[in-house]
Amino acid sequence: MSLQLLKGKKGIIFGALDESSIAWKVAEKAFEHGAEFILTNAPVALRMGEINKLAEKCNTEVVPADATSMEDLKNLFEIATAKYGKLDFVLHSIGMSINVRKKQEYTDLNHEWMLKTMDISAISFHRVMQTAYKMDALKDGASVLALTYIAAQRTFPGYGEMAEAKAMLESFARSFGYHYGKNKKVRVNTISQSPTATTAGSGVNGFDVFFNYADKLSPLGNASADSCADYCVVMFSDLTRMVTMQNLFHDGGYSSIGLTEAFIDEMENRNK
Ligand code: NAI
Repeated sequence: MSLQLLKGKKGIIFGALDESSIAWKVAEKAFEHGAEFILTNAPVALRMGEINKLAEKCNTEVVPADATSMEDLKNLFEIATAKYGKLDFVLHSIGMSINVRKKQEYTDLNHEWMLKTMDISAISFHRVMQTAYKMDALKDGASVLALTYIAAQRTFPGYGEMAEAKAMLESFARSFGYHYGKNKKVRVNTISQSPTATTAGSGVNGFDVFFNYADKLSPLGNASADSCADYCVVMFSDLTRMVTMQNLFHDGGYSSIGLTEAFIDEMENRNK
């Protein structure tokens, strides 16, 4: 690839589980753009072994870390900074809800599982940033990104308490983004991605309907994992140095749509 937006940049990528994972695509693109990084995931996710193929392709190593364990995170950042020095980027691409997986009704959620959802899907973002902040592990101008979904702003049945987790995640980007920006010139943003067929995505009750509905309403159609990876590369690059504390929609225009002509026609035809 001739355009090397991330040449010389070093980072950590959380959340590549298999080829369909958004983080997997980000790793591939970041590598193409000249970045070097450590891949990490929860020890239980590493048992599948898929991630080793990605590590080989990207000429790197995998360091296990449960994102809810401060000890694991500290160890991860120690290994990464020993290898690279201070880092330029971090991707948080982590989400999990047992309530969603088990298709619990929103009015009948298990609150122990809900606490786990919050810790894994939202508080882990604060844990990652706090670890890096305390260790002074990120360079001036470094870029931290997390992936989110529009259920933080609008209600979608089937998304369970992940909606609240995403709202919290986006809020952490703003709040930590303030402190990180002011004290260490690090930017923090979330990318709000279209429905994407991955292990986490497909676990949502009625995923196909979510996917097709958004695809139909978006003037550009749903954004793929591949194009999300392109956006992440730009957000890790020096071209976006002044963007911080934002929730950035990457959804083919879906978030700005009220109604479309195609939808009106379909409703009218249905009522004939
Ligand atoms: P995925 O299932 O491939 O990735 C989720 C990752 O979270 C997995 O790699 C999993 O091992 C990791 N994870 C779970 N518990 C963990 C823990 N305790 N510590 C460290 N890692 C842990 O699915 P996908 O879709 O690539 O998800 C990535 C991010 O994108 C998530 O935040 C998700 O909510 C978000 N997103 C996904 C959309 C979709 O439709 N797939 C749409 C919008 C946002």
